[in-house]
Amino acid sequence: MQKLVITIDGPAGAGKTTVSKALADRLQYRYIDTGALYRGVAYAAKAKNIAADDDKGLKNLCRDLELQFVRTDTGVRLFCGPTDISDDIRTPEMSMMASAVSARPVVRKALLGLQRRLGAQKAAVFEGRDMGTVVFPEADVKFFLTADLEIRASRRHRELEEKKSFQKYEEVEKDMQRRDHNDSSRKTAPLKPAEDAIVIDSTQHSVESVIEQMMHHINPKIAAAP
Ligand code: DC
Repeated sequence: MQKLVITIDGPAGAGKTTVSKALADRLQYRYIDTGALYRGVAYAAKAKNIAADDDKGLKNLCRDLELQFVRTDTGVRLFCGPTDISDDIRTPEMSMMASAVSARPVVRKALLGLQRRLGAQKAAVFEGRDMGTVVFPEADVKFFLTADLEIRASRRHRELEEKKSFQKYEEVEKDMQRRDHNDSSRKTAPLKPAEDAIVIDSTQHSVESVIEQMMHHINPKIAAAP
């Protein structure tokens, strides 16, 4: 079967994670969550008291940082050195800090090589903000998944409740708006659809319906295998 690199970019809460995982399962591809890497940098920066605008500190931090996705019985987990940080990086504070450190070119540069190495074997679904524009401009199929702010904020609010990490709906929506603004207005690798990305608005669609729309674009590429 043709091994593709599939990219899914879009703003927070658009359903990228759910859709990317389901798509990767269906295709038996690897799923790679690049937001987790930026969250990993944010986590390590906080642990070492490095401010989100301290480029020198961030550069040194990234140079020594050992972030690694590890397959375990409970799914793929993110390790920083020997520590599983998968749960610690999912707080509202880490979301904001990841958005802040991700605007720094030193951090983006440090993570670029790692992401490209993860894509070298192809057969992977990459989720992020600049997968189709910067990291994999030659990706086989690129999607940009979006949804209305209220839908995205209420999905995120529900997710946080499920994890017993309570935050008022209004705060979730405000944080999301700030993060969207940071991520799309930064100079380096801003959040935007690649010119050749297929834009899908999930506001009115179920996960299954989004996957079907995606498969409609992926199947011909698979069929075109030599
Ligand atoms: O996808 P996420 O919410 O876990 O991402 C956290 C932050 O990381 C997001 O606000 C912006 C940044 N990010 C990025 O700049 N580029 C990526 N490819 C993925 C995430």
